Amino acid sequence: MANLDHLITEAQADFAACQTTTALEDAKAKYLGKTGAITEALKGLGRLSTEERPAAGAAINVVKKQVEAALNARRDALLDAAQAAQLASESLDVTLPARAQGQGGLHPVSLTLRRIEQLFHSIGFDVATGPEIETDFYNFTALNIPENHPARAMHDTFYVDDAHVLRTHTSPVQVHYMENALKENKTPPFKIIAPGRVYRVDSDATHSPMFHQVEGLWVDQAISFANLKGVVQDFLQKYFERDDIKVRFRPSFFPFTEPSAEMDMSWNDGWLEIGGCGMVHPEVFRHVNVDSEQYQGFAFGLGVERLAMLRYGVNDLRHFFNNDLRFLSQFSK
Ligand code: PHE
Repeated sequence: MANLDHLITEAQADFAACQTTTALEDAKAKYLGKTGAITEALKGLGRLSTEERPAAGAAINVVKKQVEAALNARRDALLDAAQAAQLASESLDVTLPARAQGQGGLHPVSLTLRRIEQLFHSIGFDVATGPEIETDFYNFTALNIPENHPARAMHDTFYVDDAHVLRTHTSPVQVHYMENALKENKTPPFKIIAPGRVYRVDSDATHSPMFHQVEGLWVDQAISFANLKGVVQDFLQKYFERDDIKVRFRPSFFPFTEPSAEMDMSWNDGWLEIGGCGMVHPEVFRHVNVDSEQYQGFAFGLGVERLAMLRYGVNDLRHFFNNDLRFLSQFSK
């Protein structure tokens, strides 16, 4: 039988020339595959005599082992090289400074709403809510706002469709609240605030198409403007932590209160308007089946952004809604 030792050096050279493991597996076939040189030699053993066979078989096996060893060595080398290349391309600089975890915080308007809710809660007011998409009925009709009132015009109010608007004020929550209370057989006293988003077609340094109001409502058997003044003044003094703050009323008109007034508060030797108010109109009570002979109540609506601007010294309402983190992050502790 021919000497097969030359296969060892040939295989070593072939394997060394392979640059990928795929190429290496192809090269392997030439020696160890089904029709490879070594496999063929092993098949040829059958043609030898019984005496010749053991020595020839042993010789082929020596060659086979060596070729296999060369194959495995080359395969390991290729895998090591591939891994080294990958590590080099994905290198991490562990000395870079860590990316800080951003610390979130509440929006100044949310902080203001929380403070308002807390203070009113401390004097016995519950918090009520209502939908931001309102029916024409709750936003206008039930509040005694006539068909031809300017607030109903498209240029003042965002209409969702013919019968629905984005609520223009929080006053419809008065109606929802009283309606639901009576359905549950609750009778006055009703003592709530209703904070939330409202919408109007309006946009400049002091107006945003979306802003926040807090409605107040206190209905009972002997509620008067004196209670209203006391509640609002007490609230403002606590809110601004200044007990020199005073409240004054200027006669005004709202279809859902009678009499109606604008509320001003004293601020730096002057007066600032902070919202509207009045005694709940009998027509509103009629819509929710509260007997206006037996009960009266006051209602008010305060502008939340105005309170936030004054407390934080912000001079442009639009800062609240531009979502500039340089502004917003000043409020998170
Ligand atoms: N809803 C009125 C507004 O948005 C404010 C208001 C509330 C007036 C309650 C009177 C009573 O202008």
